[in-house]
Amino acid sequence: MYVFSHRMKIQKKMKKINNLINKKNRSKIVCLTAYSKSIASILDKHCDLILVGDSLGSVVYNYKSTKEVTLKTMINHAKSVRAGVKKSLMVVDMPYNTYRNSKEALKNAKLVMRETKCDAVKLEGGKKIISIVNTLIKNNIPVMGHLGILPQSEKKFTFKGKKINEINKILKEAKLLEASGIFSVVLECVETRLAKKLTEQLKIPTVGIGSSVNCDGQVLVIDDLIGLGESKFRFIKKYADANRTINSAVKKYKTEVLNKSFPGSKHSFKN
Ligand code: KIV
Repeated sequence: MYVFSHRMKIQKKMKKINNLINKKNRSKIVCLTAYSKSIASILDKHCDLILVGDSLGSVVYNYKSTKEVTLKTMINHAKSVRAGVKKSLMVVDMPYNTYRNSKEALKNAKLVMRETKCDAVKLEGGKKIISIVNTLIKNNIPVMGHLGILPQSEKKFTFKGKKINEINKILKEAKLLEASGIFSVVLECVETRLAKKLTEQLKIPTVGIGSSVNCDGQVLVIDDLIGLGESKFRFIKKYADANRTINSAVKKYKTEVLNKSFPGSKHSFKN
């Protein structure tokens, strides 16, 4: 019975993943990050893929880098997100130092999959992580790749694809990852023409952040999209001004508390 229901779950995941792959060359793929149930349940109506990104380190915890994010933190946020995601593919970032070798990666990825009921994990890197990716995929753990800027291992965040050796390295690593069986790859701040080449040469979908319209899909950090916080990267487009909306709501609340018009009788209990 257990083996049967486990196999059914794997088949369901694979169906979702194949649906995403089938979007390549048909329809753009819409992705966003989420770190909690309330936001995830809104995004789920619109997204193909929801990523519990380790960007939560800077966005939620004010860490200087994603290196400070722990597995426990990722699992806790992913559990919250899971409660809000019904239809989208849900991917969880494996944080820094949790996949230094195949054994460690398998143990931690299994834990993430079991605890969060996510559909896949995302790992940063190319050649260095190929054997790790192979191990996860052999063990039925779907993997999303991440090339371009790799925030877990880089200090300088400048776009990738300026020099020919960098272009060739990224092309080669993307093909190695594809051959290992990843189902999609995030391209972070990859130069426009290189993003086009990668998207044309790979059979799996590319999902860009700061990598031009030439990718199969796009991802943004949700807080940046709604204008919550202070990020100012060139590739961000602010579609709302949540800072301003929250500020004016809180200001109004404060006024009403001070002038005693809140709470009114309809917010109070009476025998
Ligand atoms: O951590 C994250 O949010 C990410 C996206 C920027 C793709 O990896």
